[in-house]
Amino acid sequence: MTSTEIIKKLFIAFSKKDEEEFYRLGEELIALEKRKKHNVVAKELKEALFSYSNSSNQNVSKRFKPNLPIPRDNDSGFPLLEIQEFYLDFDDLILSENNKYVLTQLIREIKVSEVLAVYNLKPKNKLLFSGEPGTGKTFTAQVISSVLQLPLVYIRFDAIISSYLGETATNLRKVFDFIKNGRWVVLFDEVDIIGKNRNDEHESGEIKRVVNNFLQMIDQFQGDSLIISATNHPHILDPAIWRRFDEVINFELPDEINRRELFIKYLKVMKREKEINIDGWSKKTNGFSPSDIKGMCKEAMVHAIVNGNDIITTADLEYSFSRYKERMSVRKQGE
Ligand SMILES: Nc1ncnc2c1ncn2[C@@H]1O[C@H](COP(=O)(O)OP(=O)(O)OP(=O)(O)O)[C@@H](O)[C@H]1O
Ligand SMILES: [Mg+2]
Repeated sequence: MTSTEIIKKLFIAFSKKDEEEFYRLGEELIALEKRKKHNVVAKELKEALFSYSNSSNQNVSKRFKPNLPIPRDNDSGFPLLEIQEFYLDFDDLILSENNKYVLTQLIREIKVSEVLAVYNLKPKNKLLFSGEPGTGKTFTAQVISSVLQLPLVYIRFDAIISSYLGETATNLRKVFDFIKNGRWVVLFDEVDIIGKNRNDEHESGEIKRVVNNFLQMIDQFQGDSLIISATNHPHILDPAIWRRFDEVINFELPDEINRRELFIKYLKVMKREKEINIDGWSKKTNGFSPSDIKGMCKEAMVHAIVNGNDIITTADLEYSFSRYKERMSVRKQGE
């Protein structure tokens, strides 16, 4: 089919409210653009086709609708997890060569899991991501879920910690019962609760129990899903904990080369003045996380637009850099 034919059919599917056909044709159009090597167009179409599900998590996963209801905390009624879908590429991630290699390898293992099974081998499926805020732990889990085309089950650890302490174990059980019924990338995000409240003896006793409970369930978990836990408190990395995971990945702050790639990636959205010295900015931003650089670029773009320009200048970057410097000094004081 030519793209005109597909678009014609898309219109018909829309008028008929035939959602399934609509998505099928949408994907066909994307595949056609890919075959024509129009990769940017294909990516944009893909994002547009699924943007609704991305922006409103309530409506996510029409295509991955779970058979089971989302487990909730008995006491508060809050959902214990969310099912999310992302449409990202591995190239969206800017990581050290080492981490990139390890992650590529992991993804490959999972993709060939059926072949591994012939040899009675299994891919790694329990990962721990550790590292400073804004270095891409959550983002990497989103990218992996996109690349593997598996929905992301997103679990905030604090949702599990119920106000009734007795419920915590029940909540954990509910979550694990839920995830064993599907194939997903499961992210236990911000398990930092383990690192917090260390001074409070009563609390820390309780938290220790929760952590042990969690680790036991991780230990016992068998299935095709990939489980990722993320924390920005590396001191949880005592041997008892990391033993449970097949792989521990440490997310470091980007070096100058990676910072350069980040500037290029996050400034790409808008035209920039030729004089902008990307190398200079990469040098100056030692200590910035990828998320800081992304924020700095966005702030520079906003600054340009607010001042009536459609091109980013050095002055815009200088402004956003000074804002970020200040932000970082406040952050340091808080540590
Ligand atoms: N390595 C990276 N490459 C490209 N973009 C990144 C990277 N890390 C972070 N970003 C950008 O910054 C945003 C925030 O990063 P993210 O939430 O993944 O950090 P985190 O490590 O999970 O931090 P926290 O410890 O605070 O949870 C991401 O959504 C992404 O847009
Ligand atoms: Mg995170």
